[in-house]
Amino acid sequence: MGIRSTVGSMLDSTIGRERTNTIRKAERKARNTLAERLAPEPPKRPAAKPTAKKAAPAKPQATAERSRWQPPDPFAPHPEPRMSRHEFLEGLHEKTRPRTYLEIGIRTGTSLALSRTRSIAVDPSFVIDKPIHCDVQVVKATSDDFFAGDAPLAHFDGVPVDLAFIDGMHLSEFALRDFINIEPWMADTGVIVFDDVLPRNALEAARDRKTLSWAGDVYKVVEILRRRRPDLVVLLVNTANTGTAVVVGFDQASTALKDGYVEEEDYLLQPDPQTLPLEYLDRSIAVEPDILLESPVWEQLVASREHGASADLASLWDELRKLQPG
Ligand SMILES: C[S@@+](CC[C@H](N)C(=O)[O-])C[C@H]1O[C@@H](n2cnc3c(N)ncnc32)[C@H](O)[C@@H]1O
Repeated sequence: MGIRSTVGSMLDSTIGRERTNTIRKAERKARNTLAERLAPEPPKRPAAKPTAKKAAPAKPQATAERSRWQPPDPFAPHPEPRMSRHEFLEGLHEKTRPRTYLEIGIRTGTSLALSRTRSIAVDPSFVIDKPIHCDVQVVKATSDDFFAGDAPLAHFDGVPVDLAFIDGMHLSEFALRDFINIEPWMADTGVIVFDDVLPRNALEAARDRKTLSWAGDVYKVVEILRRRRPDLVVLLVNTANTGTAVVVGFDQASTALKDGYVEEEDYLLQPDPQTLPLEYLDRSIAVEPDILLESPVWEQLVASREHGASADLASLWDELRKLQPG
């Protein structure tokens, strides 16, 4: 739409067709410039790796233009992550020196390969193709079935869980149940890490998977933890690809999440499209992983665990809370 045709024809008859056309042209140009300024930035794609294969023929100009402005998978602009989730998890293993590690979701063993401690790993369908360097009990089951069994953590011989990674089914109700089932087994000084809590767009957050890199709606668990369990420290972390969350400050006897589960079901099961809070998309509430790992809190946490000084923990959690931006 340009100048409305009735206005255009009035102008035609008063100032002449040529001057009207000049005005029309200027208006179109201004409109296009404005549209370009308002359009979202296309995602930054990594530079293509050199390949020995013959280059594909160039796309026709019109298609190339269209794909520049309508990329199939546009991500909300957010700070470039400085670490992957595996680098961050590796850092946490080093910093927290866990006595025990519990992993939900193994797939090919990339995250399990980071463990150097006694471990339990649970997944109904996995193919480990990485060298594993720990004493691990691998359980072929869904996490719900695993926790429903007798003494699921017997492999830890009564030692509570120091580090847990929740990376199984990427649907919020599963991830929330994983948290509810794991918390009673956590050490006071323990750390739980969630993967996939910062989807980069609504497509990646879809419950009905539509993208290669899939976060699902696990981010809702962070929302629920913050709402129902303000006693926990829940830090969002800007890791590639789809963000992680670190949770500390457990209350092994708490029933708040279990009691509130049915009330949360409408929110958890809300069908696609998912509506993500903006601060998740732009990651303005996420801490940078290297800053979190550099915190002196981890050393103090290990000392606290080794000397049984759990009374000091509240001040450590306060230190961690201060790292949360916003
Ligand atoms: C993203 S992959 C795990 C990747 C792995 N943690 C890593 O970082 O290398 C998710 C895994 O969760 C498993 N999974 C799916 N549903 C599950 C469930 N209900 N309980 C446990 N694991 C589940 C899948 O079989 C899949 O292997």
